[in-house]
Amino acid sequence: MLNPEQIAQDAAAAFAATDDPDALEQVKARFLGKSGQITELLKGMAALSPEEKKSTGAAINRAKTAIEEALNSRREAIRQVALEARLAGESLDVTLPGRGEIRGGLHPVTRTLERIETLFRSIGFEVADGPEIEADFQNFTALNTPEDHPARSMHDTFYLLDEHGKLAEDILLRTHTSPIQVRYMQAHVARYAHLETMPEIRIIAPGRVYRVDSDATHSPMFHQVEGLWIGKDVSFADLKGVIADFLRRFFESDDLEVRFRPSFFPFTEPSAEIDVAFMSGALKGRWLEIAGCGMVHPNVLRHAGIDPEKYIGFAFGMGPDRLTMLRYGVNDLRLFFDGDLRFLRQFV
Ligand code: PHE
Repeated sequence: MLNPEQIAQDAAAAFAATDDPDALEQVKARFLGKSGQITELLKGMAALSPEEKKSTGAAINRAKTAIEEALNSRREAIRQVALEARLAGESLDVTLPGRGEIRGGLHPVTRTLERIETLFRSIGFEVADGPEIEADFQNFTALNTPEDHPARSMHDTFYLLDEHGKLAEDILLRTHTSPIQVRYMQAHVARYAHLETMPEIRIIAPGRVYRVDSDATHSPMFHQVEGLWIGKDVSFADLKGVIADFLRRFFESDDLEVRFRPSFFPFTEPSAEIDVAFMSGALKGRWLEIAGCGMVHPNVLRHAGIDPEKYIGFAFGMGPDRLTMLRYGVNDLRLFFDGDLRFLRQFV
């Protein structure tokens, strides 16, 4: 019969001769595994007398414990060696100079949006938000846009595919920020349903919008800022005052004129396009279109659950990208979205 002490010594020597973690586990199996030497010894005990069982059993257990200890310390030693080798390979030179501080800056359009928000907040407007992936209902139907309106065509609007890769009927990339009007009005109505008279709505809503369009003055993604003021007696004169005052403050100039040119939108009546002209400077005398606007159509109020006999107001949608071009004298809209740092750095 094999001697337990001898086995323990053999095991210790075999462990010491191994320096790979996987090989070590193989070696372990030779001694402690199912048909390993220690297991064989234990099996052999069946034939012994009770006296012999006692002493032999104790010897086998001592050997087993010794083997386990030897195994664990060898495992630890192998791990240490591997760790040291790794650390030696990853030398860290703490004397290298630092990388310095890289300062970012705000995108020119972001600056414009922040400026617009500040100016409108100062006259009591709140800033609202809405999803860029929008439902057909909020983007078109609730805004009184007929089924056959050209804006609903595939040439103008980005539609989305459903999970089976089929054209999804009811969702699209919003083509304007006007659906935020709808969402805000719906939420406002629900929130104040318990009141006889709901508080005024006075919001702006900046955001990205998407259209199938691309040239020097159109990008498939661009920004709009929606405005909405609904109350008991909000008039077109209020709209003109708010816009003219905003533009003078935005451009920090009284030397500009604002023109409301009759136009059409399904969701306003009457509707107008807003043009601005500077009376001095490089752009002197040229009328530039910067927004669409009008009195909110009664059907739009009805769709949102507001009684058009009790409430009235105006809405506008302006192009902050255009305003940024005018403010900084940039002539190609696409420059804003190319991500070219040589261009963007000039605004920091
Ligand atoms: N949503 C219109 C557009 O994208 C702009 C607009 C907004 C016009 C609100 C009137 C009122 O062209």
